[in-house]
Amino acid sequence: MSNASQKQDNEKFSYLDLLASLGSAKHIGGRGATEKLIGEAGIKPGSYVLDVGCGMGKTSCMLAGMGCRVVGVDIMPRMIKESKARAWQTGVSDKTTFVECDARSLPFEPETFDAVVVESVTVFMDDVERAIKGYYRVVKPGGIVCDNEVCVTREALEKMGDRVDDLKSVFTAFGSTTSKGMLTFEDWKEIYESQFGGVKASHYLMDMNTEMETRREDGFKTFAAAIKSMWLYMTNPDAKRIIDEGNKMGQFMGEFGYGLFICRKNA
Ligand SMILES: C[S@@+](CC[C@H](N)C(=O)[O-])C[C@H]1O[C@@H](n2cnc3c(N)ncnc32)[C@H](O)[C@@H]1O
Repeated sequence: MSNASQKQDNEKFSYLDLLASLGSAKHIGGRGATEKLIGEAGIKPGSYVLDVGCGMGKTSCMLAGMGCRVVGVDIMPRMIKESKARAWQTGVSDKTTFVECDARSLPFEPETFDAVVVESVTVFMDDVERAIKGYYRVVKPGGIVCDNEVCVTREALEKMGDRVDDLKSVFTAFGSTTSKGMLTFEDWKEIYESQFGGVKASHYLMDMNTEMETRREDGFKTFAAAIKSMWLYMTNPDAKRIIDEGNKMGQFMGEFGYGLFICRKNA
């Protein structure tokens, strides 16, 4: 069983395995969402930042480029390798450290970081509260935890009628159904509020132009991932099922998006 098979133990190949095989990891909203998240969190040059589920290391390297010291963690060895390569290519190896670990058991002392950045990661964990308690534990008093999670609003969900089952089936295929089911924007806000008290939360809709821009930014990697994806589609039934479910997301344009959650730990 791979490291990433956190919830679907009976499945051989999960969405996270697919991402690692393709050498591809991203969040909805791309670089613009990251800039909003970091800007609203007020992360400054010199801050010591934890990037949880760092994927290909994009945000870690961006933060390091701003003058932060960054630790990126990811459960998938391929992601750690890719992050280290990006840090080297972008000249920020001296400001970054990458550690393979499970974000549900962060191997850091309490109150270590000025800020914890999480982008499209917590949704893959069954026990969301446990993960969030861990983020809270490692951030310093007065520090910030900021998170970008895929979600729809309760209002959008109510208007969907029977189509909710289709959306749930996409979330399930992506391993993004937590032990509390498919979380809405308001659910995420309530969960963060229960740990932090006040939370600044905003919801944005997915926009295809932005998503295409992210693919263009990744250049050859996007091309290589597309070829590998076609191969997996033809040879791996689990990958085919996940890709087919992912293609259904187009039906939810104008409804589906992401929430940004900015949470400060009391000083
Ligand atoms: C959708 S990708 C997002 C990657 C990156 N944050 C970004 O926005 O580009 C999700 C990432 O979270 C990592 N991940 C999922 N569950 C994790 C866990 N329990 N501990 C650490 N990393 C995890 C995956 O391996 C993957 O790299």
